[in-house]
Amino acid sequence: MNILIVDDDTMQREMLQGFLEKQGFHTFMAANGDEALEIFANTPIQLILLDHRMPDMNGDEVLRHIKKTNPLVAVIMITAYGSVNTAVDVMKLGADDFLEKPVALKPLLTKIQMIQERLTIAEEAAGVTETLDQSKLPIKIIGESPAMQNILSVAGRVAATPWTVLIRGETGTGKELVARLIHLLSPVNDGPFVEINCGAIPENLFESELFGHEKGSFTGASARRRGRFELAADGTLFLDEIGELPLALQPKLLRALQEKRITRIGSETEINIDVRVVAATNRDLKQLVAQGVFREDLYYRLNVFDILVPPLRERKQDLPALIAFFAKRYSPRPVQFDADATATLMKYSFPGNIRELEHIIQRTFTLARGNTVQHRDLPAEIRFHQVTAQGTLSQRLEAVEREMLWSSLENHQWVQTRAAKALGISERVLRYKMRKHKIKQL
Ligand SMILES: Nc1ncnc2c1ncn2[C@@H]1O[C@H](COP(=O)(O)OP(=O)(O)OP(=O)(O)O)[C@@H](O)[C@H]1O
Ligand SMILES: [Mg+2]
Repeated sequence: MNILIVDDDTMQREMLQGFLEKQGFHTFMAANGDEALEIFANTPIQLILLDHRMPDMNGDEVLRHIKKTNPLVAVIMITAYGSVNTAVDVMKLGADDFLEKPVALKPLLTKIQMIQERLTIAEEAAGVTETLDQSKLPIKIIGESPAMQNILSVAGRVAATPWTVLIRGETGTGKELVARLIHLLSPVNDGPFVEINCGAIPENLFESELFGHEKGSFTGASARRRGRFELAADGTLFLDEIGELPLALQPKLLRALQEKRITRIGSETEINIDVRVVAATNRDLKQLVAQGVFREDLYYRLNVFDILVPPLRERKQDLPALIAFFAKRYSPRPVQFDADATATLMKYSFPGNIRELEHIIQRTFTLARGNTVQHRDLPAEIRFHQVTAQGTLSQRLEAVEREMLWSSLENHQWVQTRAAKALGISERVLRYKMRKHKIKQL
């Protein structure tokens, strides 16, 4: 376990370090909040011993930053003797435990052991949540975070109604999965689930895709064809990427939704159609309305009920379970992500959300050795990104340097002569920089 000791008092820091290293823990030290956050950003840390009273940034602030980045990291707050009120407060803030100064070493060790045990259980539990969810839901959706729990319960309630649902969210957040869930929980669940991607169909074919056509109704219409509306009858029609729907077609869609009737191209007869409509978009439809590229009346017609699926970076609690889920799906053998690898993923921002995580895990298995995925097995851009995403210029440059050293050493099987050559530096400089960045072969 990697433990970060944060205290402005050098003696205290060194005393704790000496003790913990002797117990076999790997320690890092910071003399203030800034240093602590920097180390935290660059190193996989599982536990932090945090002095509550420090000049500059106090313990509460450091704690807030840390828990925001990774709610799974454990924090023991070290408070002044007798300040029980603050102790209660820091626990409220999310510290896992606290100790009073002067720190008695034996209780400290007991607390650390308890935290270690809890982290192990949490890691194991991460694999179990998915089966719990599955027993309630018709499809596998991982989501222990309050945000996802809320979405799942809202989806269940709205599924029972005939309302049109608009699902919003960034790319890869699971909008389609939520749409399928609504269908499966709805009264029309034994009917079809028909999808149409409004962004992928050429404008001139769109009307025929949606409403179908009669034979000979236009050049190329060699046979009569039913459109997606008809195919979705008595089921659910999923209008994906609805923000991409060409303006010219919007009134036609609106009419079909309002009147529940469609006409195939080239036909005189109207067909009554009963479909449940779910739409999804990663665009800001309101803004598109303001820009005049999306009709307001259609917007209100679709947005009877809206569900916002939050980006993965705002529900990192779900990450361990998602990792376990995809690990099971994509690995030919049982594989676990170790604490370092998990911590690294925890700090990543996932602009491509869950789909990106899925791809990362798929790719990781081609690099991983053995049954445990370690930090070094993660794709380079993840290791690279997490350290360069924030901080000042010099912090980022340091992070880039560190990552380049790591990659080069790994690529050359830790043969320093070759790693140094590839980096265009001397071996002596390489060794100096490795010491500076505390880089050792794992
Ligand atoms: N909560 C979840 N649990 C398990 N798998 C998920 C979850 N959310 C998303 N996924 C998986 O992530 C991938 C992306 O999800 P999905 O296609 O639903 O996203 P989307 O929001 O529709 O993306 P886009 O905007 O790019 O169309 C899919 O493989 C899906 O199965
Ligand atoms: Mg989608």
